[in-house]
Amino acid sequence: MSYFPHPSRYDSMIYRRCGFSGVKLPAVSLGLWHNFGHVDDFANSRQMLLKAFDMGITHFDLANNYGPPPGSAEENFGKVMKNDLRPWRDEMIISSKAGYLMWPGPYGEWGSKKYLVASLDQSLKRMGLEYVDIFYHHRPDPDTPLEETMAALDLVVRQGKALYAGISNYPAELAREAARILRQMGTPCLIHQPSYSMFNRWVEDSLLEVIGQEGIGCIAFSPLAQGMLTDRYLKGIPADSRAAKPHGFLQEDRVLLMMPKIRKLNEIALKRGQSLAQMAIAWLLKDARVTSVLVGASSVQQLTDNLGALENIAFTTEELTAIDEIIET
Ligand SMILES: NC(=O)c1ccc[n+]([C@@H]2O[C@H](COP(=O)([O-])OP(=O)(O)OC[C@H]3O[C@@H](n4cnc5c(N)ncnc54)[C@H](OP(=O)(O)O)[C@@H]3O)[C@@H](O)[C@H]2O)c1
Repeated sequence: MSYFPHPSRYDSMIYRRCGFSGVKLPAVSLGLWHNFGHVDDFANSRQMLLKAFDMGITHFDLANNYGPPPGSAEENFGKVMKNDLRPWRDEMIISSKAGYLMWPGPYGEWGSKKYLVASLDQSLKRMGLEYVDIFYHHRPDPDTPLEETMAALDLVVRQGKALYAGISNYPAELAREAARILRQMGTPCLIHQPSYSMFNRWVEDSLLEVIGQEGIGCIAFSPLAQGMLTDRYLKGIPADSRAAKPHGFLQEDRVLLMMPKIRKLNEIALKRGQSLAQMAIAWLLKDARVTSVLVGASSVQQLTDNLGALENIAFTTEELTAIDEIIET
C-alpha cells in the first residue's frame, strides 16, 4: 500500500528559525548515520522515515559516507523518496555532506572544490534528487585554503544543487572565518553541525557564542551520546545495540565507564517524568541558539520516545545544578 502522511503531522512539533535565515527546522531532526545502510533492515529504516515525517520531522540529515557501506544510506533514502515521499519533497529539508573518505586517490576526501562538487553530484544521484536543501563541509581541512572550500559551497548553491551552505565540526574561530567568507560571497552560512550533548560540551567554550553572534543556526549531533544518554544500557549491553555492533562507533568500554553517571542522570529524568533520552534532548533545547537536535534511532519506538521530549523542555535551576554536578564529578 502506498504511503499517505498523517494529516495532523504539524500539530505538535516545534519549529525554530535557523539563525538569521528564513528557514525553520523541527526541534528534533532525524539523522541517517547508523541504521539506514545496506547492512540494516530496509523495512525498519523505511518505517522510521515515514513515522518521522508523520510526526512533523521535516528534516533528514545524510552524508556521502553514511551506511555501511558508504553511500548506502543515501541509496536507501532515495528509495523511500522515490516510492513514498516524493510528493512531499517541498515539505522536507534534506541535507548531505562531504569531507570524510569516500573514494580512493587524492580527490576522495577533505575540502577541495574538486572533491566537494563531485561528491555532491554523486549524492544527488544516489538519492534521486535534483537538489539538497543543505550541503555541508563535513570537517575542517588543514591543507585546503578555507576560501576554496567555501567557494565550492557557494558554487553548488549558485548552481542550484544546494539551497543553503553549512559547516560541521568547525572550531569557533574557523567557523567565524568561514561565515565571513561565505557572507562576502553572498551565500550566508545557514547552519553549523557540531557534536553536543550532556557528555560532550565543547561547544559551550566559544562556538555557541560565535554561532549566536553570526546568526548561524545550530543542529546538535549525537545528542544522546550515541545511546549512552538513554535507558539502552541500564541493564547491560544489548546484542542489537550500537555498542555491540562491529560497525558501530560506540565503544563498550566507554559505555561501562560512563554507567555511574548514566544511572544518576536517569534518576533525575524519572523525577521529571521523562525518559533519560527525553531529558537529554530537552536539556539541549533549553538554549535558544540550538535550532534542532539531530537524533539517531534504531526503531520507531525510540523515535516516538525522543519526540516526547518536547512536552517539557524547561528546567529548574536545581535540576540544572544537579545535572552539572553529575557530569562534572
Ligand atoms: N557531522 C558529523 O560529523 C556527524 C557525526 C555523527 C553524527 N552526525 C549526525 O547526527 C545524527 C545522530 O547521531 P547519533 O546517531 O550518534 O545520535 P544519538 O541520538 O546520540 O544516538 C542514536 C542512538 O541512540 C539510541 N537511541 C536513540 N533514541 C533512543 C531511545 N529513545 N531509547 C533508547 N535508545 C535510543 C539508538 O542506539 P541503538 O542503535 O543502540 O538502538 C540510536 O541509534 C547522525 O545520524 C548524523 O546525521 C553527524
